[in-house]
Parts: sequence; C-alpha cells; structure tokens
Amino acid sequence: MTSQTVTDAPRDLIDAALAARDKAYAPYSKFYVGAALRTEGGQIIAGCNVENAAYPEGVCAEAGAISAMVLSGETKFDEIVVVGLGDVACTPCGGCRQKIREFTGSDATIYIINDAGKTLLTLTREELIPHSFGPENLK
Ligand code: THU
Repeated sequence: MTSQTVTDAPRDLIDAALAARDKAYAPYSKFYVGAALRTEGGQIIAGCNVENAAYPEGVCAEAGAISAMVLSGETKFDEIVVVGLGDVACTPCGGCRQKIREFTGSDATIYIINDAGKTLLTLTREELIPHSFGPENLK
C-alpha cells in the first residue's frame, strides 16, 4: 500500500460537509454522511445521504451534492469533502467514485474528514478511481 500525504481540507468545505451531515436522513443504517464540493464557479454545494425503507434505494451524500450542483447550472468541481461517522475514513462507494469522475479533472482533490473536522485522507481523483471510464471513452 502506498502512503498518502494528508493535506488539510479547506475550512469552508469542512463546515459545509459537517452541517450537511447533521441533516442526513439515515434511520436504517444510522450512518450519517455529509459531502460538500466547490464548483469551478466557486459555489459550495452540499449533500447528505437520504435513505428509505426499501434499503437499496437510498442516495449517498456525494450523489445528492452532485445532483444539486447540476441543478444549479454547473457541471465541474475541483474539490469535495466527505464526512462519515467517527474516525473511520468514509471513502466514497464505487458508484459515487464514478459520479465524481464524471464532473472532475484527474487532479481534483477528494478529502475525507472525521466528524471532528480532522482530515484523514487527501486523494486526487486519479487515486480515487484509477484507469476510469469517462466521457472520452465514448468518443
Ligand atoms: N454512504 C454515503 O452517503 N456515502 C459514501 O461515500 C458511503 C456510504 C451512505 C449510504 C448509506 O445511506 C449509508 O452511508 C451506509 O452505507
């Protein structure tokens, strides 16, 4: 395993991700997740996970933030902060990695923080989802 350099996540995105996590609707897993991204245009957009009684139909925090970004008229972001529960790094699920891939450059930064706001992991998009399939593959 390679060791990663941890660079602290920006304070404004940390605050937005933690505030979003407070809004999470996760009565089934009780695993509350928040995400906040900064768009190319400089907006901070957040999301939380939203579950429902048909368990597989829940939506991840990252997916919620990305949907809100597209609705706001933007389709590119440079950095995203994700926070789960406690001290275990809440790394994005496979589906969210692909969603992040669609709207970022390979050098975008993904920060995983703990619920005290401490940065646990700092990854480039390429590290998060190497050798990814993207829009270029369809050309
Ligand atoms: N979850 C997220 O929102 N983002 C992740 O990166 C990993 C998992 C959610 C999905 C589900 O609501 C709960 O966390 C437990 O898996």
